[in-house]
Amino acid sequence: MILVTGSAGFIGSNFVLDWLAQSDEPVISLDNLTYAGNRANLANLDGDARHTFVHGDIGDSVLVAELLQRHTPRAVVNFAAESHVDRSIHGPEDFIQTNIVGTFRLLEAVRAHWNGLTGDDKADFRFLHVSTDEVYGSLAKDEPAFTETHRYEPNSPYSASKAASDHLVRAYHHTYGLPVLTTNCSNNYGPFHFPEKLIPLMIVNALADKSLPVYGDGMQIRDWLYVKDHCSAIRRVLKAGRTGEVYNIGGWNEMPNIEIVKTVCSLLDELRPRADSKPYIEQITYVADRLGHDRRYAIDASKIERELGWRPAETFATGIRKTVQWYLENEAWVSTVQSGAYRDWVETNYSQRA
Ligand code: NAD
Ligand code: DAU
Repeated sequence: MILVTGSAGFIGSNFVLDWLAQSDEPVISLDNLTYAGNRANLANLDGDARHTFVHGDIGDSVLVAELLQRHTPRAVVNFAAESHVDRSIHGPEDFIQTNIVGTFRLLEAVRAHWNGLTGDDKADFRFLHVSTDEVYGSLAKDEPAFTETHRYEPNSPYSASKAASDHLVRAYHHTYGLPVLTTNCSNNYGPFHFPEKLIPLMIVNALADKSLPVYGDGMQIRDWLYVKDHCSAIRRVLKAGRTGEVYNIGGWNEMPNIEIVKTVCSLLDELRPRADSKPYIEQITYVADRLGHDRRYAIDASKIERELGWRPAETFATGIRKTVQWYLENEAWVSTVQSGAYRDWVETNYSQRA
């Protein structure tokens, strides 16, 4: 079996659902259900004997040691993190606690467990750490995309905390020989994406007849990858990646934010036209920029293709259509996640920007 942390969040839940759709290898889920964690994301697995959900913190050393001892997973896949840049700007403390201290405690528990293994169990064990392209900093328009050897230049409290966790993972391999793998991925989108992030926020705001807040000039560039492609890349790295190595994962799909927003608008025009038949782009509003906003991320994903034969299956056109359709078909999920705390966050982040 494998232990997956952060499994009730956006990518973690997609990963667990896809894993159990493709194999019968059981999964232990560990998630402390922050605002971003949602048991409903895993509701399809209720009653499935292959899945065990544990409500707990990666920083709870006693709990993690007990889980490792009881279930002896062959791998730990670490998604657990605070993940939203804007929240890290408003309040960095939780990012330091989970992304740095939490990862450190998880590594310590895993190291102690791995030290006690023998033979093939020890040789085959893996710790896979899921990280981000944001650790590499920001690129100018004509600079080449990030490779795995690009220097770390994190610019937000979020990316700095992820960078610190990546360094700890690296050090546990170098110093203790822990068999680690690190992946650095670009922006994901798809089902179960919490509507604080660009694409789901634009979909839910458009449908609610609210403004579509584009930061600054909207010309910041990100590389976008459909979440299920990220999950397939992680499965591939877990299976065949070389320990101690880093693999960049991306969609070969750089786009300015404003183009993303316009694409979402035109899909909604087609799939759920406004009552007044006007285009959704009329709801776009340019608002004050994010502090320290990184201008461009771009991922060179040729190493994972060359060494492990992985490439994304979806294009942006196919992935974004599936995503918009998923939000239209899952209005109950959308209204559940838009709790009072969510509305407080929207007020905190957007009220001063107009
Ligand atoms: P998310 O915020 O949707 O989910 C994070 C999950 O981790 C939540 O379920 C939350 O409850 C859980 N969690 C937080 N703190 C925890 C703790 N201390 N102990 C246990 N569980 C905890 O995030 P996501 O978008 O699914 O991202 C998952 C991982 O992938 C993160 O490490 C993130 O840095 C990385 N990543 C995300 C993207 C992206 O575009 N979303 C891209 C590249 C890498
Ligand atoms: O690059 C990988 C990263 O992608 C992950 O590590 C992060 O966990 C994930 O949240 C994401 O970070 P971003 O900051 O790129 O994602 P976000 O959806 O918050 O913003 C995407 C872009 O859209 C960014 O340039 C900011 C802009 N934006 C965002 C919001 C929420 C807006 O213009 N308006 C908005 O309201």
